[in-house]
Amino acid sequence: MSMFVWSSKWSIDNGEIDRQHMKLVSLIAELQNIHDTISGEELNETVRFLSDYVRIHFSCEENFMISVKYPYLEEHRILHKEFSEYIQSLCDNENIRGIIDIREVLSFLKSWLKDHICREDIKIFQFLKNQENPHET
Ligand SMILES: [Fe+2]
Repeated sequence: MSMFVWSSKWSIDNGEIDRQHMKLVSLIAELQNIHDTISGEELNETVRFLSDYVRIHFSCEENFMISVKYPYLEEHRILHKEFSEYIQSLCDNENIRGIIDIREVLSFLKSWLKDHICREDIKIFQFLKNQENPHET
């Protein structure tokens, strides 16, 4: 499986949200690196940690969208909710390794996060740029 690394092309605010995205990428990359060598219990713990961090990040991003009166907050929130529920459903298993193909999970997590940042999160910052410079396209 290819390495998962954050790319500067995914940068959206040069600040806190980028840092949180980097952290999410590194948590998923770590999971990819260690998933077949750690115990089942550690695997569950790692996925739970990722799930908690995802929730923290999403609420931070949603608060930011509220603070700038982002008009597509509700649509964006639904995407967050679906992803949170997916990760939560993994955590609901007492033995993740026994039930789930972790490689499939990893490839889903990687593509979801990359697409979400590059297609959805970026729109928040395009909206802000348009607010600041309404005559630029
Ligand atoms: Fe988002």
